[in-house]
Amino acid sequence: MERSLVLVKPDGVQRGLIGEVISRLERRGLRLVAARFVQVSQELAETHYAIHKGKPFYDGLIKYITSAPVMAMAWEGPNAIAAIRQTMGATRPTEAAPGSIRHDYALEVGRNLTHASDSGENGAKEVALWFKAEELVNWGRDVDRWIFEG
Ligand code: RTP
Ligand code: MG
Repeated sequence: MERSLVLVKPDGVQRGLIGEVISRLERRGLRLVAARFVQVSQELAETHYAIHKGKPFYDGLIKYITSAPVMAMAWEGPNAIAAIRQTMGATRPTEAAPGSIRHDYALEVGRNLTHASDSGENGAKEVALWFKAEELVNWGRDVDRWIFEG
């Protein structure tokens, strides 16, 4: 079972797409673990995007993610990392597969609506950065055995 941090970024929140993102992840069969609606601090933004520090788009990225509230969530499931990134689509919306969120709702890389973790290891790290241990809900659904093989 993998976990991913998912953010509906400020543009997604402003455009009323929180429900659309949640709906697609639920429909995919992924299981919600935690959720928090939050105005991101400068400090959290810089820690979360530390890997991009020094890149030409870094300052704009920090400004973007702190510009308005985000919907932060943790989702889990088998192959959650690959599945969620596929549902989001490629970073650049014009390269995102038809039917993906970024294809269907976005045009520019700097307004690409969502964030998702890029590996199981980073998923665990990012979930721990954004949520306290007691905010993570361990639960099961009756339907899990019809979605999760193991
Ligand atoms: P994310 O982390 O947001 O899920 O998306 P990602 O892995 O596909 O993209 P990543 O390379 O981690 O970049 C993080 C975010 O930075 C912005 N970005 N802008 N102007 C640019 O060339 C550029 N490249 C990346 C995007 O908002 C991207 O989601
Ligand atoms: Mg990334």
